[in-house]
Amino acid sequence: MIKTIGVVTPGGDAPGMNTAIRSVVRTAIFHGLRVMGIDRGYAGLIGGDIHAMDLKSVSGIVNRGGTILHTVRCPEFRKKSFRRIAVRQIKEHGIDALLIIGGNGSLGGANDLQKEFGIVSMVIPASIDNDIPCTDSTIGFDTAVNTALDAIDKIRDTAASHERIFVIEVMGRDNGFIALEVGLGAGAEIIMVPEEKCDFDRVCKRLRAGLDRGKLSSIIVTAEGVCRGNDLAEYILKKLKVDVRVTVLGHIQRGGSPSAESRALACKLGSAAVELLLKGSKNKLVGMQNGKIAVTDFSKALRTKKTIDRSVLELAEKLSI
Ligand code: F6P
Repeated sequence: MIKTIGVVTPGGDAPGMNTAIRSVVRTAIFHGLRVMGIDRGYAGLIGGDIHAMDLKSVSGIVNRGGTILHTVRCPEFRKKSFRRIAVRQIKEHGIDALLIIGGNGSLGGANDLQKEFGIVSMVIPASIDNDIPCTDSTIGFDTAVNTALDAIDKIRDTAASHERIFVIEVMGRDNGFIALEVGLGAGAEIIMVPEEKCDFDRVCKRLRAGLDRGKLSSIIVTAEGVCRGNDLAEYILKKLKVDVRVTVLGHIQRGGSPSAESRALACKLGSAAVELLLKGSKNKLVGMQNGKIAVTDFSKALRTKKTIDRSVLELAEKLSI
């Protein structure tokens, strides 16, 4: 029987994590559970950075970016010896199940804890990258896209005024979900994602065609995993002899007040994860598909790869002619 849950936010923070913490804590307390907050992600779990939470611990955070539970990258958690220490902490603090709000790394950690030590958990997908499978969107993705879009709209103003080409790097080391969504919405002339071959000559040909048609400025949105923005800018300058500037949007995409969509998703998934746990569900990724809560076994989620919709790339190119 579940009496005490632990809530933790490992990995990269995402806007809406606080909203999800609030949802988990308040739903759990509503159902009479005791809640322990685990600070600093899996590192805090290893170090026993664990404290009791009550209704007041989560007041005033529904709209705040980041995570009040803090987080650090924790490569040690990939080692079983460290996971064993974490399990000792879980037991010592009387935690019966973990509510883990995080990304693919967090999911992998949860799966290891279950397989090796029988630790029960539920994972709530939160990452600006939107690369977690079995959910249409992740907590934080919509906010990050809107933040990047707002920045690019501003860059457009100066790009148009100076008749310049801008290379804008957005986050996404291994995938192009942010680049694709942002590029489409911003009307980017070119979108570059890690899933496609990086072809500087193709970029130049498309820019050249635009210039020949009288286009005075262009925006290239590239995911960080594709290439260094400066390398591309130098290549364009050499080939086309045009004015190019580079902007790396970086971590501003991870901060800020969560959007309405990120907040609603966080409220729904946080609460659903606790209630499913109380109904006997365990070791599941709790996502949203076609507007409905979608529950997936860790093993299936880890075998599934979320892929970008390549037709959106074509659409963006067609529309930004
Ligand atoms: O996973 C989220 C993410 O923001 C990625 O898009 C990015 O590549 C990475 O985290 C950056 O991580 P860090 O803040 O640890 O440098």
